[in-house]
Amino acid sequence: MLFVFALSTWAESPKQTETSGRSMPQGPLGDVVRLGQTIVNETGTHPLSKSYVGNALSCRSCHLNGGTHPKAASFLNIATPYPAWSPREQRVITLEDRALNCFMRSMNGTRPPNGSEVSVAITTYITWLSKGEAMGMNPSRPLGPNHVQPLTIDPSTADRERGETLYADHCAHCHGDAGEGSDDGPPVWGDESYNDGAGLARNAKLASWLKVAMPLDDPYLTEQQSLDVAAYINSHSRPKFILEEHLPTPDRMGEYNGQEPPK
Ligand code: HEC
Ligand code: HEC
Repeated sequence: MLFVFALSTWAESPKQTETSGRSMPQGPLGDVVRLGQTIVNETGTHPLSKSYVGNALSCRSCHLNGGTHPKAASFLNIATPYPAWSPREQRVITLEDRALNCFMRSMNGTRPPNGSEVSVAITTYITWLSKGEAMGMNPSRPLGPNHVQPLTIDPSTADRERGETLYADHCAHCHGDAGEGSDDGPPVWGDESYNDGAGLARNAKLASWLKVAMPLDDPYLTEQQSLDVAAYINSHSRPKFILEEHLPTPDRMGEYNGQEPPK
């Protein structure tokens, strides 16, 4: 009886999101989905996340449209491969681990504690974007069904000089002549960018992302152009990744996250 009631309330939930068409869970669970969505879009300024961020980026800087872009590092359906084997970490990792590790590398910051409010909100939002999909559990790598497709050309054919011209013509008006960013686009190299432990610091990875993501809203580069401009961007300096500098202190690695009812 209770189950039928719960199911029908859920199904009749009137709240829809404009981006995904998925119904929003009611009550506090829906509030946490929305909180996670806000944090993904405003990671660098949100009070719950900003202290863990070490550059000018937010998750949405690469996970375009708050992760709802179908190709540019999409969050759609990406809860389904977890838990997954991670060759980089040499262990099975959860969605929470994967999301938190992005703080250390792409965001050049500190890993928030497991089970913290910020961690639960982000993973709740990402899981919501997989609602209704079948679990997959990826035994070979921590990537979902919509991950960025690798380019078909050989990464060693990258030409930085061609990339420099392409950057000036197609990217600099938003990202700045010196990669420093502007009101129209975040920094792409230097101290306020992703560090050299991030996925995008590898030319092949950056190129495959650029191919589907940049220029913003109209990605028209060929594979060769994406690779050339990736090599140019990554030829500049950016923060060095030293794992120990990005781990929380041992007492902040995780926390018991239950809320005791008031006595
Ligand atoms: C500088 C760019 C960048 C930023 C900033 C960034 N990420 Fe990522 N992230 C990536 C790329 C690239 C991938 C690999 C995606 C792919 O291959 O489709 C990735 C992968 C992931 C995945 C795994 C996706 C999958 O298919 O399983 C998760 C989860 C994730 N990021 C969460 C986050 C969160 C949360 C933040 C903010 C705290 C963040 N990322 C910030 C670039 C970034
Ligand atoms: C119209 C402005 C615009 C143009 C042109 C543009 N970008 Fe972007 N780019 C953005 C914005 C805005 C973001 C962040 C997305 C967001 O926050 O919604 C971004 C994100 C990025 C990122 C990931 C975040 C970071 O700063 O590292 C890279 C790398 C990037 N762009 C490279 C390029 C390259 C290379 C070109 C040229 C081929 C290009 N962009 C053209 C606006 C632009």
